[in-house]
Amino acid sequence: MKYKISDDSKLPQFVVDTWGPLVFLFMQDLRDQPGQIEKVKEHLSSMLAPLKGITADMGIETFQLADIWEDPMKCHFGFYDGNYCDANHIRDTHPSLAERLDLKNYHCEFLGPTSLQTCPVKEDSSDVRSGGMAYYFKLPPTVAVNIYKQTRDRSVPLPPDTMNKDVMDTNIVIPVSEKETKVSFGFYFPPGTEQSSKDAYIASSKGIQEEDRLVCESVQIGNDSDDIEIEAIDTGMFMKPEVLEFGFQKWMIEELEKIISELKKG
Ligand SMILES: [Fe+2]
Repeated sequence: MKYKISDDSKLPQFVVDTWGPLVFLFMQDLRDQPGQIEKVKEHLSSMLAPLKGITADMGIETFQLADIWEDPMKCHFGFYDGNYCDANHIRDTHPSLAERLDLKNYHCEFLGPTSLQTCPVKEDSSDVRSGGMAYYFKLPPTVAVNIYKQTRDRSVPLPPDTMNKDVMDTNIVIPVSEKETKVSFGFYFPPGTEQSSKDAYIASSKGIQEEDRLVCESVQIGNDSDDIEIEAIDTGMFMKPEVLEFGFQKWMIEELEKIISELKKG
């Protein structure tokens, strides 16, 4: 369905972009700032560029939503967010996942404001995430996209009867209250993915989320306690502990300082 909007319409105007099966909306009403539209378009497009690059040869636009699952958590959304961006938590929180990842080659990159964590996945025919690369992409503060991309020659079509094992899932983080968060998971698969493979991936993701929930809710309990002891552990395994979260906080301070300086000028 199409609508024709008259030029003098007072409707809000938002910039949108698309990637794969998803639509991204930049939540800034630009109806009174038409000169900003191109700039915001470029900004949104540059934020999505890493995702578009990773999936350029995956046919991601054909992926189909198989299931949505919402998990209520008893913690502030910031704890969930911080946990996601802390690469070090994988080894202790997700021991079974950690065994399947080649953690020595785990990399974190802060792209301002987005971030990307990448890690090769070990070959294991019994595992739904066997071989290839894992990508954990964060659009702060509330959206994450996780991609498992199998390694193969993508210039040739998959032989008949060979299943495309690429997978993508989204995490939408919904702050509910100071101590409650809801995370909505969307699971996407290429056309033709067998139901058993979808079920195995979704069950595995739910197990990982269960492990994350226990950590995040424990952090909330610790945060509420008067008796807090914080112990910083630098395992030296990754580039730098919490490099992504720190990068985002630093970026946000710089952005806020720019806004304050503009306001002072005006
Ligand atoms: Fe986790």
